[in-house]
Amino acid sequence: MNLSIVILAAGKGSRMKSPKAKVLHEICGREMLYYTIKAAREITDDVIVVVAHQKDAVIAAMENHFDNLTFVTQDAENFPGTGGAMMGVHPRYEDVLVLNGDMPLITPSSIKQFIANPSDIVMSVIPLNNPSGYGRVIIENDQVLRIVEEKDATDTEKAINTVNAGVYAFKHHVLQTYIPRLSNANAQGEYYLTDIIEMARNDRLSIAPLYVEEVEFKGVNSKNDLAQAEMIMMDRLRRTWMDAGVILQLPETIYIEEGVKFEGECIIENGVRLCGNTLISNSHIKAHSVIENSVVKNSDVGPLAHLRPLSVLEDTHIGNFVEVKKSTLTGVKAGHLSYLGDATIDSGTNIGAGTITCNYDGVKKYQTIIGKNVFVGSDTQLVAPVEIADHVMIAAGTTVTAGKYESDILILSRTPIRKVAGFFTKFFGKGK
Ligand code: UD1
Ligand code: MG
Repeated sequence: MNLSIVILAAGKGSRMKSPKAKVLHEICGREMLYYTIKAAREITDDVIVVVAHQKDAVIAAMENHFDNLTFVTQDAENFPGTGGAMMGVHPRYEDVLVLNGDMPLITPSSIKQFIANPSDIVMSVIPLNNPSGYGRVIIENDQVLRIVEEKDATDTEKAINTVNAGVYAFKHHVLQTYIPRLSNANAQGEYYLTDIIEMARNDRLSIAPLYVEEVEFKGVNSKNDLAQAEMIMMDRLRRTWMDAGVILQLPETIYIEEGVKFEGECIIENGVRLCGNTLISNSHIKAHSVIENSVVKNSDVGPLAHLRPLSVLEDTHIGNFVEVKKSTLTGVKAGHLSYLGDATIDSGTNIGAGTITCNYDGVKKYQTIIGKNVFVGSDTQLVAPVEIADHVMIAAGTTVTAGKYESDILILSRTPIRKVAGFFTKFFGKGK
């Protein structure tokens, strides 16, 4: 589409009360600016992002997700505010859509509505029960007269509950006419993009309000807003995956990030947390398990299991209180209470309760490699680096010291039992 989209992402976001730039705060595991850019990118190739505050961090984070974005740096010291943000922008096309970068819930279909309207300017408005925090929009006869920012509003203006959602469709020449004329004579000493409306109106340009809903146009200014936007986004993700055939039990208790993917028939029980670029394929994830950046295929996990980043499970059973990190388990059973880190474990192997890979010596991490059909007895410690061939039995309670172990052996390290006759009575006395 021949449309330029400008996303304003240069502000400090002081109401977030955070050292981190506002647009880098995350929703469902991705920075909120990612979602705004993603929606814009589905519509056009000319996406311009205005940056200033923490610009290096913002650019680096977005280049991690997208190629060929145009970044423009705002002179925020001399020209602060959303109008100041537009001063160095050179859109490629005559139709320009301006979006605030703190609107992660916007969708491509809602952006398209702005282009369909023939008015000189189209701007988004939302009727809200509680309009606080937003600029108020003064509308007469379906034409927008002006926008007044909350900090500049009189009490009567504050009572208006029709607010500016922060999306505007302009013609490029309209921006070229009015941006240089903005002034900063207001409560915040900022150049407000919203002041264009009144100037354009005085010149008899037509300015149509486009009524939109907060579920797509919510501005995130505080940590409360962030949490609410995340709930809306998470709800969308859950519905999308249920539509795709995933079973979510008590869906509102399940946390799913944007990068998570499912294949085939999956059952996700209540209280599960799925993060990063996790792939779950034909698997059952039981209650209160946490899976981060891992792949789980034809397996069952939990309840109360923890797969940390870069774990790959296939045809595997993981039970309660098992923690797996950066390990590949294929055809393995690890039913209870274990830590398996930096390990590769092959099919038919059973990991007894209380098995620990001692992968860290305080300086470096080491690998544990276990072959096929190994029986690892309960309470085994594997002091890495350790390599165990196929068909090995490890007796319960064994400390397997570092080294290579050949096939078809029993590995056993056990302190011999001592029996001290009469000890109990002697120690506790008779009658106990
Ligand atoms: C803005 C609107 C307000 C509207 C609200 C909708 C103005 C003056 N006000 O207010 O009418 O109701 O959005 O959510 O536009 N930014 C820059 N450079 C700056 C300042 C801000 O790029 O110097 C960016 C921010 O990073 C942010 C966006 O512009 O993504 C909006 O800024 P913000 O401070 O959140 O404006 P609001 O007070 O919410
Ligand atoms: Mg805002």
